[in-house]
Amino acid sequence: MTRIDIVDGEAATAYAAPVFALYDTVFGDFPDEDAWRQQMYDRHRARDGYRLAVALDDDQLVGCAWGYHGDHGQFWPNLVVRTLPDVAAEWIGGHFEFVELAVAPAARRRGVGHRLHDALLEGLTGRALLGTSSGDDDPAVRLYRSRGWRTLGLLDAERQVMGLVRP
Ligand SMILES: CC(C)(COP(=O)(O)OP(=O)(O)OC[C@H]1O[C@@H](n2cnc3c(N)ncnc32)[C@H](O)[C@@H]1OP(=O)(O)O)[C@@H](O)C(=O)NCCC(=O)NCCS
Repeated sequence: MTRIDIVDGEAATAYAAPVFALYDTVFGDFPDEDAWRQQMYDRHRARDGYRLAVALDDDQLVGCAWGYHGDHGQFWPNLVVRTLPDVAAEWIGGHFEFVELAVAPAARRRGVGHRLHDALLEGLTGRALLGTSSGDDDPAVRLYRSRGWRTLGLLDAERQVMGLVRP
């Protein structure tokens, strides 16, 4: 049975190497671990409200998700402000930003993605935002819709902003 743990920014240090290996397999958009840590992982884990959900099969990382309290001045909220000002006015600031979700190819389609999603949002209330593919058949989009997320607008032809309000 896959175990899901939630860790804070400090404890996330210990997961940097396996999270990078997974991230690199799934997204592959950084040249190496150092660049990824400097530009993404270490910056994100220092942010207010950061939490990392890890999925472990016998202590081997098979999935992860992370997010934090997003705010004006950060890269992605700024992009939303520039591209979708009406959405930004209502949603940006004090929201939880659902930043990444990834499951190793061999571990997919057995509920790990849904469990990581639910664990990451556990106990949070209010507005949550994410950016993802605009394709309706994309597995991540299907997952988010099944959990109540709705499209707020398109950033471009291939990327959308989704929002969720948790009571
Ligand atoms: C999106 C992603 C995280 C989903 O992970 P996952 O572990 O496969 O997700 P789940 O297993 O919870 O759900 C995926 C599908 O498996 C199905 N499923 C869940 N448990 C299942 C089981 N026991 N048997 C068969 N299918 C099952 C779900 O119903 C869902 O199918 P549906 O969308 O047709 O309804 C994964 O595909 C991934 O890492 N994609 C690449 C990265 C990405 O796009 N991330 C999002 C960036 S914003």
